[in-house]
Amino acid sequence: MSKILPIIKAGTPILYKRAKAVSFPLAQDVLEHVNNMVTTLKNTDGLALAAPQINIPLRLLAVNIPKVAPAKRYDFLSDPNHKAFPLTVLVNPTLTALSKEKTEGWESCLSFPGYRGKVSRHQSLICEWFDTEGTRHSQALEGFNARVIQHEYDHLEGIVYVQRITDFSTFSLI
Ligand code: NI
Repeated sequence: MSKILPIIKAGTPILYKRAKAVSFPLAQDVLEHVNNMVTTLKNTDGLALAAPQINIPLRLLAVNIPKVAPAKRYDFLSDPNHKAFPLTVLVNPTLTALSKEKTEGWESCLSFPGYRGKVSRHQSLICEWFDTEGTRHSQALEGFNARVIQHEYDHLEGIVYVQRITDFSTFSLI
């Protein structure tokens, strides 16, 4: 049975620590963390969750980006080129930027509820990861999906989006 776990909020040390790589095959407790992370994500109106946000210091992400925005705060998802990134668990993800060019856009975070701010991110990248069985995957992402993955990857590095805001006057209530 998987559980909905409380989401770790701003000011908690685990959010600012680098998460550890996961070894294969996945241990039973790691599989339980994965299931809890997916169940917890589904219980939010968020699009992605990093394991440190549920107090697990491992390089695991759960991402679930629909084609159509699930909440009003995502209405900037109206990009006609936006594609869904269906529910995926990414183990030990790595990112390689494809564009030097960065674009600014709004971000928010389940660990900073009620706030948003503008952050510059690479427009396109290659994301590589392992699934829970240990199979390697690679996918090119651009635009909003590339932004979400960069935000989540930062969580594994102990960085939160608020630290990336260049014009702090954009840090504001949703
Ligand atoms: Ni976040």
